[in-house]
Amino acid sequence: MWRCVSRGLSLPSKRWISSESPKPHIQRFFSTETTAGRSSYTIVDHTYDAVVVGAGGAGLRAAIGLSEHGFNTACITKLFPTRSHTVAAQGGINAALGNMTEDDWRWHMYDTVKGSDWLGDQDAIQYMCREAPKAVIELENYGLPFSRTEDGRIYQRAFGGQSLNFGKGGQAYRCACAADRTGHALLHSLYGQAMKHNTQFFVEYFALDLLMDSSGSCQGVIALNMEDGTLHRFQAASTILATGGYGRAYFSATSAHTCTGDGNAMVARAGFPLQDLEFVQFHPTGIYGAGCLITEGSRGEGGILRNSEGERFMERYAPTAKDLASRDVVSRSMTMEIREGRGVGPLKDHIYLHLNHLPPEVLKERLPGISETAAIFAGVDVTKEPIPVLPTVHYNMGGVPTNYHGEVVTVKGDDPDAVVPGLMAAGEAACASVHGANRLGANSLLDIVVFGRACANRVAEIHRPGEKQKPLEKDAGEKTVAWLDKLRNSNGSSPTSKIRLNMQRIMQNNAAVFRTQESLEEGCQLIDKAWESFHDVKLKDRSLIWNSDLIETIELENLLINACITMHSAEARKESRGAHAREDFTKRDDVNWMKHTLGYWENEKVQLDYRPVHMNTLDDEIETFPPKARVY
Ligand code: FUM
Repeated sequence: MWRCVSRGLSLPSKRWISSESPKPHIQRFFSTETTAGRSSYTIVDHTYDAVVVGAGGAGLRAAIGLSEHGFNTACITKLFPTRSHTVAAQGGINAALGNMTEDDWRWHMYDTVKGSDWLGDQDAIQYMCREAPKAVIELENYGLPFSRTEDGRIYQRAFGGQSLNFGKGGQAYRCACAADRTGHALLHSLYGQAMKHNTQFFVEYFALDLLMDSSGSCQGVIALNMEDGTLHRFQAASTILATGGYGRAYFSATSAHTCTGDGNAMVARAGFPLQDLEFVQFHPTGIYGAGCLITEGSRGEGGILRNSEGERFMERYAPTAKDLASRDVVSRSMTMEIREGRGVGPLKDHIYLHLNHLPPEVLKERLPGISETAAIFAGVDVTKEPIPVLPTVHYNMGGVPTNYHGEVVTVKGDDPDAVVPGLMAAGEAACASVHGANRLGANSLLDIVVFGRACANRVAEIHRPGEKQKPLEKDAGEKTVAWLDKLRNSNGSSPTSKIRLNMQRIMQNNAAVFRTQESLEEGCQLIDKAWESFHDVKLKDRSLIWNSDLIETIELENLLINACITMHSAEARKESRGAHAREDFTKRDDVNWMKHTLGYWENEKVQLDYRPVHMNTLDDEIETFPPKARVY
């Protein structure tokens, strides 16, 4: 129970206000029962038409669209927007622009369905690939400085799993890029547009939980202002989660330390499922030891993987696509080479990526970023020596299930596609599902802009700016404050970092590139125990001002929820499909397993259910691609 005791608090300093922004309704409450006596929390209420959580590519594109449609939009972000993980994307964004060869979005769609190992929803994939050329031209108009061809068109490079003419026409050149810093260029272009459209940013606010009403509609989120410890209830008719992936559940990942699956965990805590979390992408070329990404664009520009015998081994595993086979295929092939004793280095535990045969001017113009990264993190001059690389966790194909409009869906009675009113998701946090069991490189930057925009368009179809909203329920957010208070005062015996390291090692060892019943059963036991150990967490800092101990602990809880669902979903799936490679069930099993996994977090335990894959297309511009063997 809270009671209102005062009004008139000054506004938090990091809120950037335009003249049109609504005045927040400010109240102060006391929390009565806490584990450590009477802690007091200041609650600030805001009302917006829409609230976007996350300011990476998906969040910014959604916010821009919403503002363009006239919706009063708040964008809440735990990081300064241009530090979001989109900034780290290197290789580019796929679109059938046809700048290098003839191209067609239908060929792109075929590659994406095949890349997904037939777990992708074909209506959503059609939507994304058809929208792609428009999305890239829009980015160009936003000022994204794409690399250019001699005649001034957007340059497009080869990327993994991309073909012409439904796999029959050879390698496609479909990946538009800004050298190897495409994410950086994209994020800054979108941020500029968001500023132009007067999006209201709440920077360094950590979203804690969804505000759900008793009828099951989302009414916004509750967030912590990390700078001053105030809590903020953002009420909105539409809430869009664009919080990214949870790569940091693993020990070695290309993901930023901030990729902690916060939105996913908020959805799971609210009682909704997370979809297909067992599909975790290992990027073939993370720098050995450091984990930093070396773009697939390096192989697109002619780079070659070699084993300890100097052999270009990908010719054996993927005779046609070779080093540009789909990522899951390349990562597995590298792992096989290492297992069979053909790894490089003193421990024979990694592989070499050679770029030293490429002309230095190509490296300078097309791959300047990774040339620098290799020098700093591997001590390698790429013009002379190979880069030591190893498959490294890179992307979560699974996430919050949505339809192709970005609306979050759940199973309700007989309806496997029931929309959760008021709640949407886009980007890596979401599972639309355009990537199915395996994402193709350069389809992620595409996903974020296409579905960020789709969310904004959908909101414009079903709402009007300034629409009256039902007031928040009396106890909205109360449970979250009690939870926060309990965490803040945790006084167990295990520091956050110890539990986190344990979780990361379990995920790395037991939900790896190759999996077995034994490794996964053990993984389930270990990860459940890791969750149990979280009850014994110890925080040293009890304050509310820049309490990184508290923030890391909340992030750890979020990671653990994602990790538990990932492990249990993987244990249950008795087949190999895309990135889920089982040594004991080596074949894809379409009869029993062509279905999406739904992982619920109920009473701190994982419960599984399933929903069908959408095999239908949106219209007769293209027919469904029926499943077939996936060879490269
Ligand atoms: O290799 C890369 O540049 C990564 C691209 C992607 O994950 O889409």
